[in-house]
Amino acid sequence: MLYITRKVTFSAAHRLHNLKLSDKENKNIFGECNNPNGHGHNYVLEVTVRGNVPDKTGMVIDLKDLKKIITENIVEKVDHKYLNKDVDFMTDIIPTAENLVIQFWKILQEVLLENNAELYELKLYETENNIVVYRGE
Ligand code: NI
Repeated sequence: MLYITRKVTFSAAHRLHNLKLSDKENKNIFGECNNPNGHGHNYVLEVTVRGNVPDKTGMVIDLKDLKKIITENIVEKVDHKYLNKDVDFMTDIIPTAENLVIQFWKILQEVLLENNAELYELKLYETENNIVVYRGE
C-alpha cells in the first residue's frame, strides 16, 4: 500500500460567525475572526490517496488526474471567493478550517471513488501554523 499526495493552494476570505448566537457571543467566541467584513487566508490543501501500485501503470493514481479532480471540484469553487456566501457547499456552515475540510472530504471521496481511488487524508493549512487533518472519521 502506498500513499500519494498532491498539494494545491487557494486564497479565500471568510468570517467566523454563528447566526444563531448574539453579536456579543460571536465576538467572545471568534474574536477578531468575527470581523464583520471578513479577512483572508492563503490556504494550502494536501490530498492523500492510497492504493496498490499496479504493474500495468506503476502509479497509485495518475497525478494529472488527481490534480484535475482537485482543481475542478475544490480549487475552482473556493479560490478568490468569500466562503460565507460564494460557495454552495458552505451555505449555513461556519467556514472554519475544520468545517471546510469536512466538506472537501465529502466531495473528494465521492469523485475519487468514481475514479477507483481511495481518499486517505486531507490536510488543510489555514496558516503556516494552523493545520487541520481529517481522515473521514
Ligand atoms: Ni480566518
